[in-house]
Amino acid sequence: MKKLLLELLICPVCLPGEVRLMETINEISGEDIVDGELRCPECGNRYRIQNGIADLDPNPSSAAMLSGNKYETAPVVSSYLWSHYGDLFNDENASDAYRQWADLMQPHDGLALDAGSAVGRFTFEMAQKSNFAVGIDSSRTFVRTARELMLRREMTVALKQEGNITTDVKLSLPPEWDSDKVEFIVGDALAMPFRADSAGSFSSLNLIDKVPRPMAHLTEMNRVTRSVGAQFLLSDPFSWSEEAAPEEDWLGGRTSGPCAGKGLDNIMAMLNKEGCRLPPAWDISAHGQVWWKIRTHANHFEQIRSCYVKATR
Ligand SMILES: C[S@@+](CC[C@H](N)C(=O)[O-])C[C@H]1O[C@@H](n2cnc3c(N)ncnc32)[C@H](O)[C@@H]1O
Repeated sequence: MKKLLLELLICPVCLPGEVRLMETINEISGEDIVDGELRCPECGNRYRIQNGIADLDPNPSSAAMLSGNKYETAPVVSSYLWSHYGDLFNDENASDAYRQWADLMQPHDGLALDAGSAVGRFTFEMAQKSNFAVGIDSSRTFVRTARELMLRREMTVALKQEGNITTDVKLSLPPEWDSDKVEFIVGDALAMPFRADSAGSFSSLNLIDKVPRPMAHLTEMNRVTRSVGAQFLLSDPFSWSEEAAPEEDWLGGRTSGPCAGKGLDNIMAMLNKEGCRLPPAWDISAHGQVWWKIRTHANHFEQIRSCYVKATR
């Protein structure tokens, strides 16, 4: 974990209190803390940094349980590497979803936060539009993969063709993607280890239907983003499921109650002035859809309509 994050991180267990973590550094390589520990002086909780990966998940066992092991398996990592970087290895079927989402964001100063960053594409996109971008994800395997790309800047990806047949493709990051401006940590999008009012932008792509308390994720987004001069991009297929969250916590896809109707409409209403549940109110600057693709093998792709809202305040 880059040393400069020490200034940014707070204890996720003590939220909404803001307690700076005390560091013990056992091994450092340049600016990268390879091994160490962050300790909260208030609650005494300890957060390990191992092999450069900082684990700020306040409740690691429950996050792993809720997301299952799906995001920790090799085939899913390969699928996501294709989904995020397929355009970089010139795959004719690659989607340009991340470029489309990135085009919605304006350059800004300060910190960009990307929640549920997976293998890192959108975090790298935001690093080019901000002073520093942090991807946060509950999957250790995804964070390890994203950090490996950040450090080595290239990777061989075994793409499944059929059955046990795979083809190796070489992934290299474009030179203009600056590894010094990006970091990836393990954490929970429902208890972000960042101060209130600290982020100039916040992205939540294809995440809100995967978390156990979707409203808590929006409340966290609202807490950590600046009250003036912030951008928020949320995009999601709104595949609500009881596996992720009980129906009473869904923000859409319900036939009655306060969140009846479509998730995107409900979230837009929560953001903007009249129905604002996320003050200070946001202005909706764009909404629409992006076709996002996941590849499982050479003959099997999932095409997902991810509906987005871009808001500013
Ligand atoms: C469907 S994937 C989307 C990944 C990425 N945002 C994208 O659009 O390509 C959902 C991601 O959210 C992560 N995730 C799920 N629950 C999370 C939580 N509570 N906090 C942080 N990340 C979470 C998963 O590990 C996974 O990387």
